[in-house]
This record gives sequence, C-alpha cells and structure tokens, in this order.
Amino acid sequence: MSNIKLVTAKYAGFCFGVQRAVDIAAKTASENGGCYTLGPLIHNETETSRLEALGVKRTDEIPKSLDKPLVIRSHGVARSVYEELSERGIEYVDATCPFVAKIHSIVSQAQGKVVIAGDAAHPEVIGIVGHCRDGCAKVVCDENELEEFLKAEKSSCENPLILVAQTTYNSAKWQYCKKIAKKHYTNIQIFDTICNATVNRQKETEELAGASLMMVTVGGKNSSNTNKLAHICQKHCPVIFVQSGSDIDKAAVRQALEGKSGTVGITAGASTPVYIIKEVHRIMSEILNDEDIDFMAEVDKTFKKVYIGNRVKALVVAVNNSEAVVDLGTKHSGYIPASELSQNPNAVPSDIVSVGDEIEAIVTSINDAEGVVILSKKKVDSVLGIEKLAAAMEANETLEGEVASVIKGGVIVISNGTRVFIPASQTGVPKDGKLEELNKKTVSFKVIEVNEARGRVVGSIRLAKKEANDAAKAKFWESVEVGQRFTGEVKSIESYGVFVDLGGVDGMVHSSELTWSRIKHPKEVVSVGDKLDVFVKSFDPEKKRVSLGCKKDEDNPWIKFTEQYAEGDVVDVTVVSITPFGAFAQIIPGVDGLIHISQVSTERINNVAQVLSVGDKVTVKIIEINNEQNRVSLSIRALKEAEEKTEEAADEDEAEEEIAAQAEPETEANE
Ligand code: F3S
Repeated sequence: MSNIKLVTAKYAGFCFGVQRAVDIAAKTASENGGCYTLGPLIHNETETSRLEALGVKRTDEIPKSLDKPLVIRSHGVARSVYEELSERGIEYVDATCPFVAKIHSIVSQAQGKVVIAGDAAHPEVIGIVGHCRDGCAKVVCDENELEEFLKAEKSSCENPLILVAQTTYNSAKWQYCKKIAKKHYTNIQIFDTICNATVNRQKETEELAGASLMMVTVGGKNSSNTNKLAHICQKHCPVIFVQSGSDIDKAAVRQALEGKSGTVGITAGASTPVYIIKEVHRIMSEILNDEDIDFMAEVDKTFKKVYIGNRVKALVVAVNNSEAVVDLGTKHSGYIPASELSQNPNAVPSDIVSVGDEIEAIVTSINDAEGVVILSKKKVDSVLGIEKLAAAMEANETLEGEVASVIKGGVIVISNGTRVFIPASQTGVPKDGKLEELNKKTVSFKVIEVNEARGRVVGSIRLAKKEANDAAKAKFWESVEVGQRFTGEVKSIESYGVFVDLGGVDGMVHSSELTWSRIKHPKEVVSVGDKLDVFVKSFDPEKKRVSLGCKKDEDNPWIKFTEQYAEGDVVDVTVVSITPFGAFAQIIPGVDGLIHISQVSTERINNVAQVLSVGDKVTVKIIEINNEQNRVSLSIRALKEAEEKTEEAADEDEAEEEIAAQAEPETEANE
C-alpha cells in the first residue's frame, strides 16, 4: 500500500495540564515513597499501570486519613474537597491544570448565576460547579439547553449571568452557545475557557479527518476528549478507536484500505502518552508498508525556534499560585513553574513577577505536540546573580537578602536571585543561640567567597554587623556632646548601674542617676531590653567611656518637697535607715530627712535603735531645710518639748485656778 500516506496530528497526545499532573504525581511518589490520586489521574490504562509501578495509587473517595500525600488531578475538584482534606489533616498536592483553576477563580467571584457549557457528569464540571455559590450554577450540554435556560432566566431574573465552558468542550458547539447567549441575554459575560490545546487538537483532527481515508484515534475509551475526537472524525471517514497498538486489527485495516490511495490520519487524546502514539504509528506503518517515519523527528520539525538551553526574553501574561504564563513572541505557550521562578522556596509567584514584566528565562523543556515550553527564571537569575555578587565582593559592598532556609551548618540567604550560604559561625548568632530565629528575616551580609564555576557563594552576616558597628562607633565619637539625648536599650545591669546601647557604643547610667527614688539595686527599676531615655553627662573618647543621666528635672523630688513644706511644719514620716548619728526618714519619695540622735528624744540616748526601727512611722517637726545641700533636719524632740511645755503651762493654770477657788469663800465670809 505504498500509495497510502500516514500522517500523525501534531497536537496528538498529552496536553500541558496532563503532562504536568503526571510529572507532579511521579515526583510526589518518589519523594514520599508513594502517593494517591483522587480518581484516575488520566484515562489511559497503560499510563496508569506505569504510574502504579512508580507508587502512584488511586483512591476514589477521600479516606478518613492517609499515610501518603494525595494528588488532586488536572480536572480539579470542588472547594468542599479542599475543605474536607484540611479537616481530615490529609496532606495534598494540587495538580489542577492552571486553565481549570482559572475557571474556578472566575466562577467563585461571580455575583449572579453561572452557566457552564459542558458535561454535568464530568469531574472537571463537577469541580467547577463546586466553586460556584450554592444554587448559582447551571450546566447545559448544548446550545438548545442553553437557549431554554436563558429564555426562562430572562423573565425571572435581571442579574448578570456568566457563561463559561468546560476546557474540553466542543469548539463548534461553543460558537453556537455564544451566539445564543448574546441573542437572548444582553447582560451576560462570556469567558472563552476552552483550552487552546483542545481547540487546536479538535481543529487539526477535523482537517486531517476531512482529508483522510481513515482515522486512527488513540486514547482511553473513557477519556472524554478522545471520544470527542473520535466523534469529530466519524463525520468525515471511518474511525478505528484504539487504546494502544495492540488493539489494531491489522487484517481489518488492510482489507478496508485495499486498493485505495490517499491519507490515513492518527490523532490522540490529551491523556495519551507519546510512547503509545509512536507504537500505533509504527504498527500502522508496518500495515501500510509505509516508510517508518520517526514521529519525534516529525514533531521536531514543527518546533524550530526554541531549543532547550536557550536564554530567551519573555513577557509575563498571567500569574497564578503555581506558575507564571509567558509569551515568548513565538507560537509557543511558555510556563515557568513556581519552583523555577525563584531560589526562595517561600516566595509565591506574584511576589516575583507581575503581568507585563519582561524577564529573561532559560528553556528547560519543550512539549512539541502542544507547543508548550517550560522555562526557568531562577537559572538566569542565578547566573546574573553570581556575577553581581562577585562584583559586590570586589567592591566590599554590604548586601541585603532574606533568609530562605536554615540548613545543617548555616543558613541560606537569597540575594540577586542567588542562594548565598552563610556558615553558622558567620551568622552572628551565638553558639548556644538558635539559627531558626533568622529564618524569613531580611539580613545584611558581606560576600566573602564566590566560586562561579561551582555556582557557590558564601556570605557573612557577622562581618556586615561588625562593619556597621564600627561605622556607628566612629560616627558617635565624632558627634557626641554633653547633654545630647538618646533612647537606648539596656544591654546589661550591674549593682552599680546599667549599660545602655547608644547605637554601637554603650554608656553607663550610675544607680544614683537612674531615678530620684532611693534604690538598693538597678534591677528594681529597669530590666535588660528596656528602652531608656538618657542624656550624656560626660564622656572620655580616649577611654571610650560615656556617663549618662536618666533623671528628669521635672521629677526632682526636692523641688516638689520645697513647694509643699517649710521649716516648722509637722509631718508624718517613715524611718528608712538607722545610723550611729541618727535615723533617716522618708518625707516624700526621694526626699529623706535626718532625725539626729540628739533630736530623737527629750532624754539623752546612746543608741538610736533603742528608740526607733526601720519602718516606724513617726511624727516630726521640720527644723531646718538646707537648699544648698538639699538636706532636711527633723526632730521628734522638738515636738515632745513643745508638748511638755504645753502640759506644764496647763498644769500651772490648773493650780492657779485651784488656789483662786480656795481663796473665794473666805472673801464671802468676811463680807
Ligand atoms: Fe489543561 Fe487544557 Fe489539558 S485545560 S488539562 S491543558 S486540555
């Protein structure tokens, strides 16, 4: 049959979303000793068996618990599924195709009803419905059902409607649906959500089938998109629907094509792996005795402008949680997975790129059949970053970066898109400290080693800190003045005072300068880490010493005392200390007066402690206020003497009265 040509559709096989889900599942299984998928990952038994051998198992319901992560397939799931997984504490990896995730995002924001053109029983559509507000979703299978719904809706509701399509919906039917929607409902928003991979595959299949004697459709029997392809082909020519090469009835094919000349086409659904398409192509070649065309070589011809390893300019056209979609200026769609956007595993795509950014990236893989290119931005950043870091080391620059992770022996800082290793000894964290405290923090560091060949950069936070400290110290000594005010942190506390960080230089506040109140230890009024407002009392640049004051004039208790009291006043005081020459008593906080031993009692005493104890409350007279020395003299004796005098005077008066009383009757008798 050398007069029959075999043509394989360029868009046959795995689409981007399926390839991505398969890759995610295989990676998850290899990292976790296996994984589960919620429902079949793809509708292809051969590929499912291959994945099973890699540890990818299937579960059709959400179990109560799982020992391995669960992969959500490219179809996506309803919001309630995510909620249930979280409630049950099941770890999951979301492999929802970004194009499906985009529909979820559209419908979840809809204010009115959402009409979905698609198959209500298809998992993708069930998932989309599950992202709509309760009772707001309507699934229509075709334009007729849509028309019926819109007619009814028009009379009952003025709310805006949203129309979306299942990603694999028939593109011809979609055109009809759009027409009907516009005709019946002016207040409708239409989102073209059919996936390009589907459109291209269906369009190409239709053209190929129209020019072929026979079509071979390759894919799972329960794969919706493969069935659609078979249906499209049937309109034009006989179709053989096979799951793999072994399904081909060679005798029947030979018989059907006997004596004919023309083309036989091969197309395949989005869930058909390329090795099955190649197998089908080889078997058909054998049947037709055709040249054994190298499928991959044919595919390669369609993809000439971009090669793996190319450094290309790309325009960011969309950003979602799992990747950035870029325009390469060719017919290809470019994707940069989140993990390839930045060295920082904590960064989300929208932190790194925005729509409209022009970036550079390296092509890491090409899917010819779908015209999809996978790129890496972090690889370019890393190359450029190492150059910049080397220049920074040369110029002794201090750089900033976020600590992305803590690893054995140090931390990783991301700077200029490059991983910089900071050994534990260079982090500035003490030996018994925790490196984890640096995690996610922005730090300043110096580059101390760059090995461009090995892509290794080593930095030091400690050096950067030391340099900053030295600079701050030099600046301090240049500008410090008596009276200058600072707010500093208490670094340490001694019995005689506290040390306060003034920004690289520590100053000392003596205990007596800390507060107007009498204290035994600075710890009574400050703690390490407190912020203190201080002023410079004196400094010595030679000895690098700074004496600080902390007490405020407006709080000076002596001023308060003199405003309130005068000599001669009688006050209640508390004995605070006993000395051989007298007792000190607090009049108000911060002002103590001396009750000299001679003023303690009217009688002569040799030891004050015989009469007074610390804590005693006594009434005293202020007998002297010395404003020059801020001293107050108090006296108990003065009060007692006054009391005694008063008593004596009273006694005398009484005696006189008594005498007078005795004299009076005599006078009366004389009269
Ligand atoms: Fe995604 Fe389109 Fe495939 S929606 S799963 S890339 S058919």
